[in-house]
Amino acid sequence: MMNQRVVRSIIKAQTVSDGAGVKIQRSLGLQQHLRLDPFLMLDCFGSDEASDYIAGFPPHPHRGFETVTYMLAGHMLHEDHLGNQGHLKSGGVQWMTAGRGIIHSEMPQQQSGLMQGFQLWLNLPAKEKMKAAAYVDLTPEQIPQLSLGGNSWVKVIAGDFISADGGTVKGPVQGLSTAPLYLDFSLNAGDEVSFSLPQGHNALVYPFVGEVLVGQQTPAIPRHHAAVLTDGTQLTLTANEAVRLLVLAAKPIGEPIVQYGPFVMNTVAEIDQAIRDYQAGTLTDGAATTLHFS
Ligand code: CO
Repeated sequence: MMNQRVVRSIIKAQTVSDGAGVKIQRSLGLQQHLRLDPFLMLDCFGSDEASDYIAGFPPHPHRGFETVTYMLAGHMLHEDHLGNQGHLKSGGVQWMTAGRGIIHSEMPQQQSGLMQGFQLWLNLPAKEKMKAAAYVDLTPEQIPQLSLGGNSWVKVIAGDFISADGGTVKGPVQGLSTAPLYLDFSLNAGDEVSFSLPQGHNALVYPFVGEVLVGQQTPAIPRHHAAVLTDGTQLTLTANEAVRLLVLAAKPIGEPIVQYGPFVMNTVAEIDQAIRDYQAGTLTDGAATTLHFS
């Protein structure tokens, strides 16, 4: 039986500064209670003022979760302690598993022009927090785009897009324990789309151009507001104007979270250990692997 999801609560993004002074719209993660298990943080960056992004993110550590960077415009270079380099370019995605530890930088490779995109922090369950660090770069060509009629479309970055008429499009990221669904929609004025969301998975809608209606529920969700949804099996989005939005969903982990900056663990003792490991230079010890999605 279909059970439509509606809006349960709204988190309005606020402008914050992170890295060496990059201007960001942060919704999830603004405060520690503003999370949606397993999503820890959602940042949207977007500016054509170089001063808003040029300082970038100099080397910094992470432990205990995954970071997902989706570039809409611009060019950043990822470098990490393993000697990896990854170019983040328009339409590409970097899926990085910090696991036990990674030290990386993300620096702009442009002096001017538009830099726009998202960084999502996705938690790992306790049994995976100390696994080896890894990352995968997805080129725009690896991310399927499905036409929704007219000029409307959806890009499927992670999980399966299952439309109400039964068609399925699989994204390149599959097989993770939180089963993330990561969708990017462009909808024309007057268009509506209905699709499945797994029962029990937490989900949100984040418009970043224009505003969108969830079902026929009013008022519409304004841009840069994360609309957290009720549980259910189906989501219907209606665009009264041209809109771009993300839909994110994943299986909640249901474990305690202790966060200290870029370290996200289950207990205070594990955070203390992460800080000690970082100070001792052993945060990243352990073999690196290359990620393969099944
Ligand atoms: Co980082």
